[in-house]
Amino acid sequence: MISSEKRRTNWPGISHSPSALARDPVVGQGGSITYLGIDVGTSGTRALAIDSVGKIVASGSEEHEAFRSPRPGWAEQDPRDWWRACGLAVRKALATANVSADRIACVGFSGQMHGAVLLDPDDEVVRSAIIWCDQRSEAQSKELSDSFGRDGLIQLTCNPPLTNFTLTKLLWVRETEPNNWSRVAHVMLPKDYVRFRLTGERAIDVADASGTLMLDVANRRWSAEVLHKTEIDQRLLPTLYESSQVCGKVSAAGAEATGLRVGTPVVAGAGDQAAGAVGMGIARAGAVSAIIGTSGVVFAATDRPALDPQGRLHTFCHAIPGRWHVMGVTQAAGLSLRWFRDRFGFAAQNARDPYDILADEASAAPAGSEGALWLPYLMGERTPHLDPNARAALLGLTASHTRGHLIRAVMEGVAYSLKDTFTIFGEMRIPVTSIRLGGGGARSPLWRQIQADVYAHEVEIVAAEEGAAYGAAILAGVGAGAWNSVDEACDSVVRVASRIAPNAEASKTMQSSYATYRKIYPALRRVFE
Ligand code: XUL
Repeated sequence: MISSEKRRTNWPGISHSPSALARDPVVGQGGSITYLGIDVGTSGTRALAIDSVGKIVASGSEEHEAFRSPRPGWAEQDPRDWWRACGLAVRKALATANVSADRIACVGFSGQMHGAVLLDPDDEVVRSAIIWCDQRSEAQSKELSDSFGRDGLIQLTCNPPLTNFTLTKLLWVRETEPNNWSRVAHVMLPKDYVRFRLTGERAIDVADASGTLMLDVANRRWSAEVLHKTEIDQRLLPTLYESSQVCGKVSAAGAEATGLRVGTPVVAGAGDQAAGAVGMGIARAGAVSAIIGTSGVVFAATDRPALDPQGRLHTFCHAIPGRWHVMGVTQAAGLSLRWFRDRFGFAAQNARDPYDILADEASAAPAGSEGALWLPYLMGERTPHLDPNARAALLGLTASHTRGHLIRAVMEGVAYSLKDTFTIFGEMRIPVTSIRLGGGGARSPLWRQIQADVYAHEVEIVAAEEGAAYGAAILAGVGAGAWNSVDEACDSVVRVASRIAPNAEASKTMQSSYATYRKIYPALRRVFE
């Protein structure tokens, strides 16, 4: 487990930031049967083994090369670097905890979603992978909207075209780099490329496949209509599995690179959001998580593919057969506070974490920040506006506002942005029975309370929030039969450590501020354009 001291530092950062990756602790000794989760993130790969009661017994990680941005809004990584990092992360996990590879009963994967990995007929990488946050395919998104009609893709795939999704990236390569496209024999998502190198199998789970815009999410199969109309050959795509299904075994080459045993079974796993949700016990309808990392995600498990007719939420398959999930994404959640910290000169003082200094100042300001309001659109916005041109704004300032008011306003503005997803859940009648907080934002007592007050709902903190690798390890355990189902696994390993109730008076003030917040974007949209 990460010690409380280490958890306290850098709290709004993503859990898999390079600094977090560099300080994986040694957490236990081998001996028992274990299940390995491998998370292929953006900044690094993390490997984590759990035993049959969910205790972490080994953990190792390795950073990736930072993504390249050859032009503004572009983001590319070399898939071979992920495979290099996977080998090292797994070897570190095996070595630091002295877990024998023979004791690993099964391996599960999670990873950054939406990226396009393109391989030629010899399985060599054709070009750098275009990853999830790349924004170059706006023209292709528009073409898809035009050819399928405004709601056509939502009907077929449960989601509207977005630059983040894989299909728009494939169309960009086809239109802009015909020579590269002519060599493409296989298309994969990031973790599936790493699994391919480990096992030789071309596999994908329905949860991650949901973010390609080529999956018929309601029926959990590739969409023949979308593939036909966009002229993408289904033979380019991997075979679909449910997340806890075994889809391959570690090959001799995979074993040599990682130190794993030849023949170790590997399950399909899930995209990082679904896997992270499993790790927090967000399995049954009614369970919701609110994560403040660099970005912010509000994620609800559902027992039907719930559609937002306006496409403001992503509707994806969950990592559990017969379940789906909906999620809303705030692009710059923890990033808002990190930006404030970095740009307005909060250096560490006497070894105190700058975030703790920020929180102390913000605590002195009252709920509602006396009218100061923050719109967190530093990176455009997904939910609810789907507007890459949206911009951040700090409003309502008077001469009596202090720095503490502004910090608190930033924290409140991020929570209002996450609340927008809850508001859409209300419109869609998505049940919300419990809300679990996660990410760096959940490590701040002030931000926990602000979230309880803004959501006007009790919030829960789980005992061990270990991110997507932990969920991937649970999926491996289910695949190996340690638990009969993901529900059973979550019930047995995820424990709520504390609950925070909303403060009635503060919550009332925040609801009124939220009503004002909701009016700002419509008033400023033309200005942003
Ligand atoms: C989900 C999303 C991110 C990426 C990067 O839609 O874009 O979670 O998977 O982690």
